[in-house]
Amino acid sequence: MSKRVVVVNGPNLNLLGKREPEIYGTRSLDDLNKTVEAKAKELGWEVSLFQSNHEGQIIDFLQQHAPGSAGVVINPGALSHYSLALYDCLQALALPVVEVHLSNIHAREEFRSRSVTARAARGVITGLGFAGYELALEFLAKQ
Ligand code: DQA
Repeated sequence: MSKRVVVVNGPNLNLLGKREPEIYGTRSLDDLNKTVEAKAKELGWEVSLFQSNHEGQIIDFLQQHAPGSAGVVINPGALSHYSLALYDCLQALALPVVEVHLSNIHAREEFRSRSVTARAARGVITGLGFAGYELALEFLAKQ
């Protein structure tokens, strides 16, 4: 089995640390990437990291880099709530996908509680902050 996983963050997650810190915390995307890299290293895995504010760029990245990997951890940001193109992309990959949200999307505005991309995921981890990404990697490592 491939020893590589793909970790993708969607729109506005580049603003982590500055954006609504009461919801998303004070640590940056760089801090998140370091946490992810440390967990991947602990599990003996390589990780391909990507963040974009653009739906098409995310889809292009996944089409290019996810095939041949052991799975995908993705926080699609607001794309979760409406992007059927990203849903189709994740479905087409035919790989284990774990959707992660830093905040608890069920404890916020009504529109956030529905994720269209989650249908393409094995599971969703929501509300556990950075730990959600670490748990997602541990799950993929056990597959
Ligand atoms: C988010 C939740 C989404 O509703 C929001 O649009 C985001 C971040 C989260 O990580 O909690 O951008 O995915």
